[in-house]
Amino acid sequence: MQNFAATLLLFGLISFSFVECRRKLLYESYVTYHAINCRKHTAFLTDFGGNGDGITSNTAVFQAAVRNLSQVAEDGGAQLIVPPGKWVTGSFNLTSHFTLFIQSGAVILASQDAGEYPLVEPLPSYGEGRDGPGGRFSSLIGGSHLTDVVITGDNGTIDGQGSVWWKKFNRKKLRNTRPYLIELMYSNQLQISNLTLIDSPSWFVHPVYSSDIIIQELTIRAPIDSPNTDGINPDSCNNVKIQDVNVVSGYDCVAVKSGLDEYGIKFGMPTEQMVIRRLTCNSPNGAVIALGSEMSGGIKNIRAEDITAINSESGIRIKTGPGRGSYITDIFVNGMNLQTMDYVFWTTGSYGQHPDLGFDSKALPVVDRINYRNVVAEDVKTAGNMGGIDGDPFTGFCLSNVTVGFGVPQENLAWNCTDVSGVSSNVTPEPCDVLTEKGPSDCEYPPDPVPIDNFELNTCSFSSTT
Ligand SMILES: *[C@@H]1O[C@H](CO)[C@@H](O)[C@H](O)[C@H]1NC(C)=O
Ligand SMILES: *[C@@H]1O[C@H](CO)[C@@H](O)[C@H](O)[C@H]1NC(C)=O
Ligand SMILES: *[C@@H]1O[C@H](CO)[C@@H](O)[C@H](O)[C@H]1NC(C)=O
Ligand SMILES: *[C@@H]1O[C@H](CO)[C@@H](O)[C@H](O)[C@H]1NC(C)=O
Ligand SMILES: *[C@@H]1O[C@H](CO)[C@@H](O)[C@H](O)[C@H]1NC(C)=O
Ligand SMILES: *[C@@H]1O[C@H](CO)[C@@H](O)[C@H](O)[C@H]1NC(C)=O
Repeated sequence: MQNFAATLLLFGLISFSFVECRRKLLYESYVTYHAINCRKHTAFLTDFGGNGDGITSNTAVFQAAVRNLSQVAEDGGAQLIVPPGKWVTGSFNLTSHFTLFIQSGAVILASQDAGEYPLVEPLPSYGEGRDGPGGRFSSLIGGSHLTDVVITGDNGTIDGQGSVWWKKFNRKKLRNTRPYLIELMYSNQLQISNLTLIDSPSWFVHPVYSSDIIIQELTIRAPIDSPNTDGINPDSCNNVKIQDVNVVSGYDCVAVKSGLDEYGIKFGMPTEQMVIRRLTCNSPNGAVIALGSEMSGGIKNIRAEDITAINSESGIRIKTGPGRGSYITDIFVNGMNLQTMDYVFWTTGSYGQHPDLGFDSKALPVVDRINYRNVVAEDVKTAGNMGGIDGDPFTGFCLSNVTVGFGVPQENLAWNCTDVSGVSSNVTPEPCDVLTEKGPSDCEYPPDPVPIDNFELNTCSFSSTT
């Protein structure tokens, strides 16, 4: 009887510690994450011969892995795990129903060999590459005509190693346009999240001609003097959410676009239904959020809330000019906290830069219904530098609850308004004459969410013990 009790006790102890041990193993070997869809199949880059030594090129390995896993796209899809290590690669494309998961401690290092980025055609809504009249180097990570694509991680890194490209660009040695870090085109159901992106050769994240897009929890870093290192550029996209993103870069932290001049007008695909939330920006040479200058397909129904900036050139900047045509309308901003800025409000109706001489200087943009409320800014040089177009004024500005404090000594005019009109309420200092007409105490902010805001992510996982 006593023996039996002792055996029971012993057995109890053993099974207890066994359970503890198993629990620990399980805890350590499972990675969970949130995504628009989970995948039935899991593979590791090393399954395809990947070498994470930081020297060997894995371009063919990434391409083979995606090609292989595209076979199961219609059978529950696949997640490709990039484990800790330094994985050098040139350009590769993704596939549908696919997740690229970059683990913490993993760095995808962009090859600095231009030969690793095959040239592709200019975008149809641009007519030319943005850096020159030639073609475009493929983006590091690309994809076209896809559905249901996730690029995520537990804060793994993609390092664009852009310095070689910045040097060539600054010396005007480029005929073709620099690669972007991530460019997905003609695609839908996209998620890019939980990653650190550094030193892109040019723009970081460029979804174009795409819809139903979630971009969140990104840390984006490039030197503040690096050329055109825009953070996130949704371009002719619909139903987009960008949130919890922290950008330090050489140009605009977020730039909303839709094609250029006659090419963008002809292509006619706007960016609309988008929310940008909890963006933090540090960009002394760029806007926190730019609308344009490429806007020839139209920009409409864009919301921004809870925006923070330190040491940036401007808050929201509208950039357009004769030749662009189309419209920027129904812009809603609620809550900006800005510290050390050249401009809080900046609109430019004289933006140059044309793809060629084929643009129609009579194609004038409509800029209307631009709403800003709840803005606090300190250490500012100019509150508003607001220019429209002679004969084509920018209309329907509404500013409410805006407080701007200036640097000492205050060197510039507080406001400079030309060819703009609108209303205001509770704005300090008193805005320029054309905006002093009394407006609502709260400028409009739509109460209904953009559709993507209602989308719930799933909890997905994989076992990282191989
Ligand atoms: C991103 O990572 C954090 C911390 O690991 C986690 O709490 C969050 O759910 C992740 N987000 C997504 C979209 O997976
Ligand atoms: C690629 O896919 C095939 C199935 O078509 C599979 O048998 C093979 O093992 C895969 N290759 C690798 C390296 O995983
Ligand atoms: C990626 O896809 C684009 C668009 O289909 C194509 O032009 C390009 O050649 C592909 N790149 C690679 C490396 O396969
Ligand atoms: C991700 O890593 C970056 C760079 O190390 C860091 O600044 C950031 O805080 C990290 N993000 C999270 C959510 O841990
Ligand atoms: C005015 O805006 C500031 C900054 O967003 C906010 O903290 C404050 O609550 C707003 N005041 C009113 C009356 O809405
Ligand atoms: C005010 O704006 C106009 C048009 O944008 C510009 O030509 C002018 O130089 C500005 N004035 C000052 C004092 O900045």
